[in-house]
This record gives sequence, structure tokens and C-alpha cells, in this order.
Amino acid sequence: MAQIFSPTADTWLRLSVLAFFALMSGAFVGAIGIAHSAYVTSTDQAPHQPVPFSHRHHAGELGIDCRYCHADVEKGPKAGLPPTATCMTCHSQIWTNAAMLAPIRNSLANHTPIRWTRVAKLPDYVFFRHDVHIAKGVGCVSCHGRIDTMPLTYRAKAFTMEFCLDCHRDPIPHLRPADHITDMTWQPAKGDTRRTEIAAHAGIRLGELTHCYVCHR
Ligand code: HEC
Ligand code: HEC
Ligand code: HEC
Ligand code: HEC
Ligand code: HEC
Repeated sequence: MAQIFSPTADTWLRLSVLAFFALMSGAFVGAIGIAHSAYVTSTDQAPHQPVPFSHRHHAGELGIDCRYCHADVEKGPKAGLPPTATCMTCHSQIWTNAAMLAPIRNSLANHTPIRWTRVAKLPDYVFFRHDVHIAKGVGCVSCHGRIDTMPLTYRAKAFTMEFCLDCHRDPIPHLRPADHITDMTWQPAKGDTRRTEIAAHAGIRLGELTHCYVCHR
């Protein structure tokens, strides 16, 4: 059969077809990359706070349990932010004159709560509760990452619909015993079957958690 194109032209044609598809898929992957990047979902950025509160110091190094400050997390939909009085249990004794803590002292004196800039937030049309997750064995670290290592708080995970669904499709690999709910590093030992037992014991409705009405109601 006679060749229509010279071998060199043929090579060029192949190369440009390949380049075209490479560019197309590159653009596609790029678009997904941008949609999921920290910029759009605002992860990994610590916003300015009135007091430079450090979870690394308080939760990590001092080992204060999350529930000491976020006292409603097991009882209701919201975890709650600590009232100034909670800070003062310690800071009326230590660092009492630090300039950094002046907003805390003013807040106490004037009975005005500190206005923290929120970092972890969902749009209003999404329904969420903390208490159910905690009661069923989902730990803080699954949704907030290693808060105990953060000098300033940032959102570790993008709260996209896919993030929620990923776990709702199969929560078992994410479950933990109740006494490790705020433990940031717990892992089951090899051969530990507790996760499956917790799912059965907690009566988790496997296969029903991806229905739209679970999160949009
Ligand atoms: C259980 C005791 C305790 C509680 C409660 C507590 N702190 Fe602290 N905080 C400390 C200690 C101890 C230090 C460290 C002083 C040092 O560096 O030696 C500290 C240091 C700080 C510092 C200095 C920067 C740093 O992290 O080293 C800030 C700011 C601060 N705390 C804010 C707060 C705020 C805001 C609250 C309330 C939400 C709070 N603390 C609650 C014990 C506590
Ligand atoms: C000593 C008190 C204290 C302890 C202990 C503490 N927190 Fe906090 N937490 C705060 C304060 C104050 C803020 C608001 C300022 C900030 O964002 O850093 C906050 C903010 C947060 C936020 C961001 C909320 C938002 O939307 O702005 C999350 C998530 C959080 N904490 C989780 C945890 C977890 C998980 C633990 C345990 C590993 C923990 N905290 C332990 C005081 C505490
Ligand atoms: C299943 C995921 C999930 C788990 C587990 C979880 N959180 Fe949250 N948390 C969220 C989401 C989502 C928000 C934002 C809620 C909103 O905007 O309505 C949030 C918000 C917060 C806030 C700020 C607003 C509030 O609710 O008062 C704090 C503080 C917080 N979480 C602490 C914790 C602590 C402490 C734990 C563990 C004891 C924990 N969370 C476990 C997903 C989770
Ligand atoms: C790491 C696992 C995990 C993640 C991530 C997660 N969930 Fe869940 N969620 C669960 C489990 C487990 C249950 C309990 C299911 C049951 O009781 O059958 C649950 C239950 C719920 C419920 C039902 C509460 C009720 O009324 O019974 C809602 C609403 C919900 N999740 C919303 C969300 C939203 C919104 C997100 C994302 C911001 C999210 N979840 C992320 C594991 C997770
Ligand atoms: C486990 C919780 C969960 C379930 C189940 C769920 N969603 Fe969502 N959905 C979310 C969250 C969280 C967002 C917010 C995403 C964001 O802010 O990026 C969202 C956002 C949306 C949006 C807004 C547009 C967008 O994509 O951001 C639509 C539309 C939507 N969901 C439809 C649905 C439908 C239809 C179903 C059932 C097939 C469903 N969702 C099931 C958690 C859920």
C-alpha cells in the first residue's frame, strides 16, 4: 500500500495527536486539582485570631482534653467554643500580664465573649451534628486532622460533599473505641477486630448513610 504521508510526517501526526490528548487530560486533571486545592476550599490557612491560641501547646504539649474546652461536643450538634472563664482557670495564675492575653482579660472584665474567626464551617444547607458521630465512634482527628500539632488553627480537611460521602459509604475503617475518641494517634493493633464490633454494637445503618436526606433536610 502506498504511503500517504512520509514517515517523518506520520511521526509528527502521531506526536501531535498524543500531545493533544496529553494537553486535554492535563487540563482536566488541572481543573480538578484547582477545584480541590487549598485555595478554593480554604484548608491549610490559619486566619488571624484576636489571641494567638495554640492547640499544639494546650492540647498537644499540655495534654488538655478537647472536651475541656469544647464541652458540648458529645451532647449536641455543636462542639462549642470555650468561654473566657475556661482560659482563666489557668491564666488567672500563669502569664497573667502577657500582652498577648490582654484581649482575654478585657473579655473577662467587660463580659464580652472573644470573637474567634471560624475555621471549620459548613454551608447552611448541610445538616450536621457532632453528638451522633462521637457516640458512634468517629474521632475528632477523622474530620479535623492533627489539631494537636497546630500552632495556629486551620482547617485540615476540605468539607466537600465527597469528603462526607467517602466515610458514609463505609465508616467501619474510621471507627474507634469511645475512650480514644479525642486521641489523635490511636490505631488498632494488628488483628484487632474492634472496629467491626463497634459498628455492630452502635447499630450503624450501613448502606443508608449516602441518602441525600441524611445531610440535606
Ligand atoms: C489547663 C491550663 C490552661 C488553660 C485552660 C489555658 N491555658 Fe493558655 N497556657 C497555659 C500554659 C501552661 C501556657 C504556657 C506558658 C509557657 O509558655 O510556659 C499557656 C500559654 C498560652 C498563651 C501563650 C502562647 C503559647 O501558646 O505559648 C496563650 C496566647 C494562651 N495560653 C491562650 C489561652 C486561651 C485563649 C485559653 C482559653 C481558650 C487558654 N490559654 C487556656 C495553660 C492553660
Ligand atoms: C484550652 C482550650 C482548648 C483545648 C484543650 C482544645 N481547643 Fe479547640 N479551640 C479552642 C479555642 C480557643 C478555639 C478558637 C480559636 C482557634 O481557632 O484557634 C478552638 C478552635 C477549634 C476548632 C476550630 C473551630 C472553628 O470552626 O473555628 C477545632 C476544629 C477545634 N478547636 C478542635 C479541637 C480538638 C480536636 C481538640 C483536642 C485535640 C481541641 N480543639 C482542644 C480551645 C481549645
Ligand atoms: C464527622 C466529622 C467530625 C467529627 C468526628 C468532629 N467534628 Fe468538629 N466539626 C465538623 C464539622 C463539619 C464542623 C462545622 C459545622 C458547621 O459549620 O455547622 C465542625 C465544627 C467544629 C467546631 C467549631 C464549631 C462548633 O461546632 O461549635 C469545633 C470546636 C469542633 N468541631 C470540635 C470538634 C471536637 C473537639 C471533636 C471531637 C471530640 C470533633 N469536632 C469531631 C466535623 C466533625
Ligand atoms: C469518618 C467518618 C465520617 C465522616 C467523615 C462523616 N460522617 Fe457523618 N456519620 C458517620 C457515622 C458513623 C454516622 C452514624 C451512622 C448511624 O448512626 O447509622 C454518621 C451520621 C451522620 C448523620 C446522621 C445524624 C442523625 O441524625 O442520625 C449526619 C446528618 C451526618 N453524619 C452528616 C455528615 C456530614 C455533613 C459530614 C461531612 C461534613 C459527615 N457526616 C462526615 C461517619 C462520618
Ligand atoms: C454525608 C453528607 C451528604 C450527603 C449524604 C449528601 N450531601 Fe450534598 N453536600 C454535602 C456537603 C458537605 C455539601 C457542601 C459542599 C461544599 O461546601 O463544598 C453538599 C453540597 C451539595 C450541593 C451543592 C452543590 C455542590 O455540589 O457543592 C448539592 C446540589 C447537593 N449537595 C446535593 C446532594 C444530593 C442530590 C445528594 C443525594 C444523592 C446529596 N447531596 C447527599 C453533604 C452531603
